[in-house]
Amino acid sequence: MANVLEIMEWYVDAGVDIMLEDAPIDRFAETETLLTKTREPKTQQPRKLPERKAQQTPARVQPTATMPDAETAKAARELAVSAASLEDLQKIMTGFDGCNLKRTAKTTVFADGNPASRIMFIGEAPGRDEDIQGLPFVGRAGQLLDRMLAAINLTRENAYITNVIPWRPPGNRTPTPQETEICRPFIERHIELIQPELIVMLGGSSAKTLLKTTDGIMRLRGKWTEVVTPNSTVKSMPTLHPAYLLRQPAQKRLAWQDFLQVRQFLEGLSA
Ligand code: URA
Repeated sequence: MANVLEIMEWYVDAGVDIMLEDAPIDRFAETETLLTKTREPKTQQPRKLPERKAQQTPARVQPTATMPDAETAKAARELAVSAASLEDLQKIMTGFDGCNLKRTAKTTVFADGNPASRIMFIGEAPGRDEDIQGLPFVGRAGQLLDRMLAAINLTRENAYITNVIPWRPPGNRTPTPQETEICRPFIERHIELIQPELIVMLGGSSAKTLLKTTDGIMRLRGKWTEVVTPNSTVKSMPTLHPAYLLRQPAQKRLAWQDFLQVRQFLEGLSA
């Protein structure tokens, strides 16, 4: 039994979080059948138009099929706005079962750092180390983030760090738009409760979600913008994700330019 559980955990870590069919499907055989059919000689009979059916929408794409998601998103919004404090919000998120990512995650990773900070760093979602330790940015990318913070005189004592998604996606895959939308009310409420004077979005996923844009991070980074939540508007800077910088160290100079702008802004605040 222990072995079975270990094997299943291994699959989940590798990103296999759902089973689609009981039996494998031979797609090659299907393609072959299709090809054979299209190769059959055509008859010269005049083509008869198919009769219109009264109801042609297959059951699985009927509008009601999307309702549970809309309801879950509504429940998330109502719960999030009901949070009057960070403690409330953390409790609500820990008890929320509407996002499938929670089923495979070990912990709900809420935040780290100083809630009274003027600056809030927001990443994408926890990875393996964060899921185990229950804190954001504690793995290799987190260690680089700590060094980047130190370069502009910040630490976890005076900065606040969280993610758009509080649950680790299996195999560290990118969260789906549906997962992101379900979690959006929580990060928006999180921002409203922290009331930062500046948000730094770490990476394309965080920036696209919070800025509600499809533009890529290379286009967005380094330019001042605003994150708008239902009850606040916060000055913001999108920059490159530390995990990306680990893979592409030559791009660190771009992140450094962005961080210098952040430092300048913070110096202006305390001048
Ligand atoms: N990457 C993120 O976006 N967040 C973390 O907490 C860790 C890695």
